[in-house]
Amino acid sequence: MSDLIFTHVRKEFPGGVVAVEDFSMVVPNPRMLVLVGPSWCGKSTLLRMVAGLETLTSGSIYLGEQRLDTVPSRDRDIAMVFQSYALYPHMTVAENLGFGLKIRKTPRAEIERRVREAAATLELDALMERKPAQLSGGQRQRVALGRAIVREPRVFLYDEPLSNLDARLRTDMRATIRKLYDRLRTTSIYVTHDQVEAMTIGDVLVVMNKGRVHQVGTPESCYREPADTFVASFLGSPAMNFVDARIDGGTIVSRDGVNMPVPPSMSGLVRTGAEVRVGIRPENLHPAPSDAPHSARVVAEVSLREPLGHETLTHLRFGAVEWVARGTREFSPGPDGQTPVFLDLDRMHIFWKDSGRRVDSADATAGATEAPA
Ligand SMILES: Nc1ncnc2c1ncn2[C@@H]1O[C@H](COP(=O)(O)OP(=O)(O)O)[C@@H](O)[C@H]1O
Ligand SMILES: [Mg+2]
Repeated sequence: MSDLIFTHVRKEFPGGVVAVEDFSMVVPNPRMLVLVGPSWCGKSTLLRMVAGLETLTSGSIYLGEQRLDTVPSRDRDIAMVFQSYALYPHMTVAENLGFGLKIRKTPRAEIERRVREAAATLELDALMERKPAQLSGGQRQRVALGRAIVREPRVFLYDEPLSNLDARLRTDMRATIRKLYDRLRTTSIYVTHDQVEAMTIGDVLVVMNKGRVHQVGTPESCYREPADTFVASFLGSPAMNFVDARIDGGTIVSRDGVNMPVPPSMSGLVRTGAEVRVGIRPENLHPAPSDAPHSARVVAEVSLREPLGHETLTHLRFGAVEWVARGTREFSPGPDGQTPVFLDLDRMHIFWKDSGRRVDSADATAGATEAPA
């Protein structure tokens, strides 16, 4: 099977809205690529250009040797699953599954074989004679998935397919889609605004905002080394804590009253006077053990505890800043309400204040990016 190659893809709608600015990427086959970003960032537009539901303003899309963006939609051999299941209400599940093949004049025996296989894969066997109105939301979405599978497409596209489901079903379907990909190994592009869905489904994340790519990488690498403050704050819940500060020798000094040492790994990269934004994730703030080095401790006031059962979210106030910590170890404030907090300097993130870019990052979005394994 073939790589999917985007070269300087741009989409500008009449009226001047630039939905996708300049998207270049090689998606090696097979990959589960996830496009993630807030609403209106251009995810659906990009997907629709692959499917042929939207034209490109400029640039090109290839599938292997074949130029795709000039091929009519129906000849692209690409299946798309939407948030709205778009099933035919008057047809049974079995008829819905087979309909796409029937209009393509697939031989009857072949249709039956593929429908049977898809039904088994998605556990739809018992529902084959029902109409969509007699199905739950989750079952309808499984039928929509089945309809995509039976086509045995070259690429699967998913546009927020789980958004209409309740939280529990979403978790189940997320696993179903991931297992389906592991079995079929057909390149898939999955669009979502939900960072948990993105992290769990994707081999590779493409984090977008306002029509631009901010980072491409494995879920782990985007989480651990976010390329800029947008990615840093978008991935993770509760979100990363931030404070604006200025470098003064070996110290990071914030106007809001939190001072921290410059992590040793960054000391060669930042100079006195540099304006930065420091980020630290909730799971990297802990109660300070009594033997913690003084330099890695800050004192905070506990302003709120939110026990979640398996862990607790603790809101910590340092002067004018409030940060959230998460973990299983409890902060125990002294009689003055203050508690020592351990800052894990190895897990601290430092960004340039003006560009938002990570201090130690190369430009991860320059040029054509190969989606990593
Ligand atoms: N058919 C259209 N005509 C004009 N503007 C559009 C059209 N479709 C999308 N847009 C605009 O393009 C931008 C990206 O939209 P979209 O790709 O749907 O974002 P997402 O799927 O990430 O929420 C938005 O500003 C949206 O208003
Ligand atoms: Mg969309």
